[in-house]
Amino acid sequence: MCPVSHGLLDVQYAWDKLPVPSSLREFEQRWGSRREPLDFSGVWRFRELLPFAPPEQIVTIGEGQTILQQSDHVGRYVGVNDGCLHLQYEGLNPSGSFKDNGMTAASTHARMVGAKLAACASTGNTSASLAIYAGVSQQFRCIVFVGSGKIAYGKLSQALDYGATTLQIEGDFDDALMQVRAVCEQAGIYLCNSVNPFRLEGQKTIMYRVLEGLGWEVPDWIVVPGGNLGNSSAFGKAFLELKHLGLIDRLPRLAVINAAGANTLYELYEQQGLRWNDGHPEQSLIDTFYADMQAKNRRANTLASAIEINRPVNLTKCLRALDACDGVVREVSDEEILDGKAQVGAGGFGCEPASGASVAGAKLLRQQGVIAPSDRVVCILTGHQLKDPTATVNYHTQGGCRAANAPIVVPNDFEQIMEIIRQFG
Ligand code: F0G
Repeated sequence: MCPVSHGLLDVQYAWDKLPVPSSLREFEQRWGSRREPLDFSGVWRFRELLPFAPPEQIVTIGEGQTILQQSDHVGRYVGVNDGCLHLQYEGLNPSGSFKDNGMTAASTHARMVGAKLAACASTGNTSASLAIYAGVSQQFRCIVFVGSGKIAYGKLSQALDYGATTLQIEGDFDDALMQVRAVCEQAGIYLCNSVNPFRLEGQKTIMYRVLEGLGWEVPDWIVVPGGNLGNSSAFGKAFLELKHLGLIDRLPRLAVINAAGANTLYELYEQQGLRWNDGHPEQSLIDTFYADMQAKNRRANTLASAIEINRPVNLTKCLRALDACDGVVREVSDEEILDGKAQVGAGGFGCEPASGASVAGAKLLRQQGVIAPSDRVVCILTGHQLKDPTATVNYHTQGGCRAANAPIVVPNDFEQIMEIIRQFG
């Protein structure tokens, strides 16, 4: 492993000494041996592309059975041609979010090093994922740190139900992450946040499945919500490695979408011009930004609670991804996020609020002419619709929302019910 900068480790492989398929299509052969747990997993059937784990140590629960779905309904909302918009439904993972892609990898590494206790800070999904893996693997126990603010009940209920020891810190996610990092360091606990580079190795496979869904063709755009910036970092690494290995001939463009109330990456990248700069980003820009944030006690604030993060730990790695993928960053309002989410719901599977940011971001980039109508766009839906029912019900019932679909209140009376039914002829 090599440090990228500022202490974050990065997994680097000696590819020339490793067996790598000559074509991505070779992975399709594993569809025929899906009774094998490693071939069934949507992460480990690509194991030659994350070759750090001895097969017998791998902790898998069948994660990554997720699909790429063409959605013309959402495509029209975004403003691209029919057939051009795809949604990658990562909410279909065992714990209901993309986190399982990374947690199977981190849990495997935890097992490799003999960890008995693991921990994470979370806005909800990481804790749900770690809790499920700790419970299923029976290799280690876990402690999760959550903030006291907006954690969605779907997520909190998972951590509690899967038996995680849950610490509710009097503070927000940024506070919880700072504390858990210090605690893990002091107490020798295995840390499962995305500062853990093995998490990102697992999350690379989301991109492999996107390519698979497109017949191994590279799309024009990957659009992803940005919180702690683990996903975007992992996606960039995945494409850089595939290109290095000669398995793809070009990289897609990457759009990372911040909530306007948690927009550190947008501010630094788009407003202040912070760049990867060959591994030497201008640290003084970052330091000054955080010092100002501290002085003003500015806290992240968005209804998309999963991405309510002001100090993204993977900032530097994300800059590398943006550099490799000719990336852009945008911020979108909570209203735009929830409208985007409602379109995903009306078009099919649904998603949690943070995931709606990718649709809202794609729409904005289309309006700005950055995305063309004929571009092939993949929006990553990071979390399941049922994670945050409160946000969904509020949107549909509180009035004034663009795509609200409120329940119709009717007396307990057959004739009056029929009166309404007839209107739907
Ligand atoms: N979408 C959802 C549903 C998430 O839960 C998260 C992050 C993100 C997007 C942002 O992804 O951090 O890779 O940029 N959730 C973390 C958690 C922080 O604790 O569950 P990122």
